[in-house]
Amino acid sequence: MHVPGDASSMSFASHGTSRKRTQVAIVGAGPAGLMLSHLLALAGIESVVFESRSRAEVEATLRAGVLEQTTVDLLVETGVGERMLRQGSIHQGIEIRFDGRGHRIALSELTGGRAITLYAQHEVIRDLVAARLGAGGEILFDVGDLTVHEFDASRPFVRYRVEDRIETLACDYIAGCDGFHGACRRSVPDAARTEYEHVHPFGWFGILVEAPPYARELIYARHERGFSLVSTRSPDVQRLYLQCDPGDDVDNWPDARIWSELDTRLRTRADERLHRGRIFQKGIVQMRSFVVEPMRFGSLFLAGDAAHIVPPTGAKGLNLAVADVKVLADALIERYTSGSEDDLEHYSDVALARVWAAQQFSWWMTAMLHRFDDHDPWQQRMQRAELQRVADSRALQTALAESYVGRPLGNIDSGVARRAILVRQPADGAGSEARPA
Ligand code: FAD
Ligand code: PHB
Repeated sequence: MHVPGDASSMSFASHGTSRKRTQVAIVGAGPAGLMLSHLLALAGIESVVFESRSRAEVEATLRAGVLEQTTVDLLVETGVGERMLRQGSIHQGIEIRFDGRGHRIALSELTGGRAITLYAQHEVIRDLVAARLGAGGEILFDVGDLTVHEFDASRPFVRYRVEDRIETLACDYIAGCDGFHGACRRSVPDAARTEYEHVHPFGWFGILVEAPPYARELIYARHERGFSLVSTRSPDVQRLYLQCDPGDDVDNWPDARIWSELDTRLRTRADERLHRGRIFQKGIVQMRSFVVEPMRFGSLFLAGDAAHIVPPTGAKGLNLAVADVKVLADALIERYTSGSEDDLEHYSDVALARVWAAQQFSWWMTAMLHRFDDHDPWQQRMQRAELQRVADSRALQTALAESYVGRPLGNIDSGVARRAILVRQPADGAGSEARPA
């Protein structure tokens, strides 16, 4: 058995990084990769993060905005939540709007005080980059042609290009945190992975606007012309989305058309009109659901968007990425402290339990709120009936709220993973099913 190496004793000068070996090589400086590196560093485990883009690009990429309570708690507990606590805004409810009427889902009241925090993903990235670099951590930006090797054997390594030089870094484990289009997942032979994918027949047209907030809480609106979402970034910058054709072009959307469409879809009174602000960013996002199983291949562990994608209607992607790496970091810490690989063995099962729950929640929200061009009138009525049931039922609102604010880590994970582990161990030699104790 390969014993994880003592990285520090093997370091010597080179160009890309100051060492030839590390304990964990992390591919991707998104939320997953940076948070993993941070959690490992707090436990004294060394890692090197490889990122294909520049630091400026990574810190400027506009994506998520909603942080679950679970994510917020982890950022605070691990010392990277200070700016978020100052600048983020806590929301204790959201509104579901349909047929021109709003229905509040009282997130905090329904979940024993849990809430979401609106804080932009690129701000989380900035906080994590600052924390890692401040603690002497290594993040290599602008690396090219990164490939991962021998993760099915005992000597994995990463090969990459820095400027015009090819370098390699040996490691004990590789964490593939390189997003949906990254290299790690594709390095696993086809026969060793099963992929589940669903491409949704619509996109989201997103804008950033210079304006004061449109609402005190997020609004998820269903209208026969399509879904729309009112979110926020700060007291001066608002984030709005409109369901659009997935093949649509930003150039088809002059400002006047965007405002008119938002007014129509969000209106609760005949004369209602959103206040106009300067639109300074426009973009179209495709909607996809995707899961790869398993999330571990030898000493390669996938985490975050590299392993799964959800449509953003449930605001789960970043939060799932953080949940994955918390499970992975704990398992690696166990490995380096006690020598036991048990938790690493169960990483994939534990992470996938949460992933599939989030897939289901994201699909529920997406299906309930979007316009489907191929729906017949009966299906349209079913969609409205479902929304009405949510509006009328405290039980359904509680289910929505629990998923939206995020279950505590280890809650659903432990139960499902325990069952998964038991199912794999034949009981009394009688078969492959064993009953949970
Ligand atoms: P990424 O953020 O994709 O990071 C991967 C990194 O790896 C990138 O920096 C990339 O440059 C790098 N990389 C790729 N290939 C290589 C390579 N070969 N070598 C080195 N580096 C490489 N989620 C939420 O939780 N809440 C929300 O409100 C929310 N809203 C969203 C709104 C929109 C419009 C979109 C598009 C997404 C939203 N998400 C949301 C999802 C969230 O942004 C993602 O799930 C999250 O970024 C995943 O983080 P990650 O670290 O796994 O991957
Ligand atoms: C966002 O603010 O970008 C946002 C909010 C809620 C979502 C998705 C995105 O469900």
